[in-house]
Amino acid sequence: MKLFDVYPLYDVTPVSAKGIVITDDKGQDYLDFYGGHAVISIGHAHPLYIRRLKDQLNKIGFYSNAVHNPLQVELANKLGQISGCSQYNLFLCNSGAEANENALKLASFETGKSRVIAFNNSFHGRTSAAVATTDNEKINAPINKQQQVTFLPFNAITTFKKEIEKGDVCAVIFESIQGVGGLDEPSTEFLKKVGELCKNKNVILIADEVQSGFGRSGKFFAFQHHDIQPDIITIAKGMGNGFPVGGVLIHGSIEASYGKLGTTFGGNHLACAATLSVLEVIEKEGLVENAKDLGNYFLEKASKIPQVQRTKGKGLMLGLEFDFEVAELRKKLIYEQFLFTGGAKDKNVLRILPALNINKEDMDLFFGKLKIALS
Ligand SMILES: Cc1ncc(COP(=O)(O)O)c(C=O)c1O
Repeated sequence: MKLFDVYPLYDVTPVSAKGIVITDDKGQDYLDFYGGHAVISIGHAHPLYIRRLKDQLNKIGFYSNAVHNPLQVELANKLGQISGCSQYNLFLCNSGAEANENALKLASFETGKSRVIAFNNSFHGRTSAAVATTDNEKINAPINKQQQVTFLPFNAITTFKKEIEKGDVCAVIFESIQGVGGLDEPSTEFLKKVGELCKNKNVILIADEVQSGFGRSGKFFAFQHHDIQPDIITIAKGMGNGFPVGGVLIHGSIEASYGKLGTTFGGNHLACAATLSVLEVIEKEGLVENAKDLGNYFLEKASKIPQVQRTKGKGLMLGLEFDFEVAELRKKLIYEQFLFTGGAKDKNVLRILPALNINKEDMDLFFGKLKIALS
């Protein structure tokens, strides 16, 4: 059997990794400033992460959601405490798309409506409703196009108001910092007005924190930069540091009932152990604060590079905009400078998503390599 060929691959075969260094099958080391699409939050092979997963595997790796799993309760409590979102309830699933799919479904259950407002350049995943709210025609099949979704620009409050006043909208889904789209952000003023209008019109506000959550933006959640309160928050990526896990934080005002949501694998013992260890490391090593400080250090250094037209993002969710497409630069960085970076829908933006425990020396190494590649 061959693999279904959907990924254009870089010619690199990682075989081991530690911290922010990845080693390939020829013994070459690479600096990882991308974390496999923002997934590696506490660094590769963190000792506490390995210990927790090994210990858990020796006890019990999986049983279904038909029996008690105290690790889920411990995780919900810890997440509520660290994120400042203890007034939400937690539903665990396996990926970002699944988290958004469940969030959209809940919004439709809750309001009895079905149209969704999403934003230009959004990315929310590849499942049915999640992909329909993703602004990319190419990855939406005819079956997905049956969903009713309206895409609007950020910060156009009059247009937004007109749309939501039609009365058929169940949810508004947004990224506080767009990931795949290229690091654009809505303004605080806009998000506050969106929040008010959602409340008045019985519309569920969904903050997609799949990429920006778990400390990456320099606050635990990126929406917390804006003093708003979403009804639902979705999480995945950095949550498991590579272990597939996702979640939906559902405000206490939305009631649960048996069977409303469900999953076989979601919230299994190993996923909980992985997430609990990530939270413990984030707390012990002060990684939210580190993301903020190192993000500022990065932005300051990046602003001095003449080829950089604009710096984007917050914390360690960063982008560098050039006046040329970055595909060739990324190839140079990976094959000549041995540095992993990311691209975006905006082809002129280089995406930077390192682990949250990097330090200034790592950043200096990054800029040294970038400067050579740009020269
Ligand atoms: C903001 C956002 N939401 C959802 C997703 C989908 O997550 P997953 O690939 O885990 O389904 C992504 C993935 O890049 C994302 O960046």
